[in-house]
Amino acid sequence: MPTATPSVIALDGPSGSGKSTVARGVATTLGWRYVDTGATYRIATLAVLRAGTDLSDADAVAAVVTGADIRLSTDPARPCAELGAEDVSAVIRGPEVTAAVSAVSAVPAVRSLLVDLQRHLAGVDGAVLEGRDIGTAVFPDAPVKVYLDASPEVRASRRAADGDAGVTAPAEHLVATVSADLARRDRLDSSRAASPLSAADDAVHLDSSALDAAAVVQRVLALARDAGLVE
Ligand code: DC
Repeated sequence: MPTATPSVIALDGPSGSGKSTVARGVATTLGWRYVDTGATYRIATLAVLRAGTDLSDADAVAAVVTGADIRLSTDPARPCAELGAEDVSAVIRGPEVTAAVSAVSAVPAVRSLLVDLQRHLAGVDGAVLEGRDIGTAVFPDAPVKVYLDASPEVRASRRAADGDAGVTAPAEHLVATVSADLARRDRLDSSRAASPLSAADDAVHLDSSALDAAAVVQRVLALARDAGLVE
């Protein structure tokens, strides 16, 4: 645990809430680091799948993740995920990783390893972190905490429109399939014992259903100004 919480904006919320776009927009405006913590769980999951590990064997999963060389760029203009020297930015958004990531991220030893990595990636000069447990576990003292949400319908259409929703389905069934997958992951991510998806008590709740990303970015920047993080 770092001795003092650096300038951190914690952005938590479920998939499709608009976190990534908003977090990158805020980090770009401020010239801060951007840490996509979900990507660290996805890279770890890819390592576990490639090792052929039984997902229900928590010790084996943790052992693979301990030995994995997980690398993440913190440049909001060039988010890049690597496993060793390999650029895995595309493959970690695919259906295999998306189907397995909730199981891998539920393993407490995996979380503890990756939370250390995420704190390290945040550095000390200002960072926007997006995830599920930033305000509750990674940086519980973050001066700005936002919990971003949107209606299930809006979240499913956004993920379907992204083209990287992590499911395969015929076009006419895409939104329904994405919607079912989001509901499955919400259930797993919210019900796990270790750091479940939940809003910190002191988080500001924003609903992005009727707001575009630029408007949410402005709200978050206003919160950062109110907290004295930026001028
Ligand atoms: O944000 P995402 O969809 O890329 O996240 C992938 C998975 O990683 C998500 O289903 C839950 C997990 N996750 C987590 O447990 N804690 C985080 N801080 C970020 C993601």
